Amino acid sequence: MFERVCKEEALAEGDMRIVVAGAQLVVLAWPENGVIKAFQGVCPHTNTPLTDAEFDGVELVCPIHRWSWSMHTGVASHPHATPLAEYPVKIDTGVVYIDAEGIAPIFAAP
Ligand code: FES
Repeated sequence: MFERVCKEEALAEGDMRIVVAGAQLVVLAWPENGVIKAFQGVCPHTNTPLTDAEFDGVELVCPIHRWSWSMHTGVASHPHATPLAEYPVKIDTGVVYIDAEGIAPIFAAP
């Protein structure tokens, strides 16, 4: 079920923010030359919220051990990182909706 998370104008191209959908933390990112995407908002390494992650407009970097991911795809760019789970995004009349139902965050093997 799609849930309203914010207005589209709350995000600019090259920005990210953390929102909550389906009781899960979600990274909402608008990568440069791309479209708004939603990925799990916790690091697959230790389940740490990605609230303080760095975003250069393309890659998101966890500040703790520097695992990183493309915000176009959720694919890991750091050699040890696992990918991020992605959630469907819908934009309707200036409002961003995410459907997080049934999609669990991915965690790295311990
Ligand atoms: S906690 Fe994110 S890379 Fe280790």
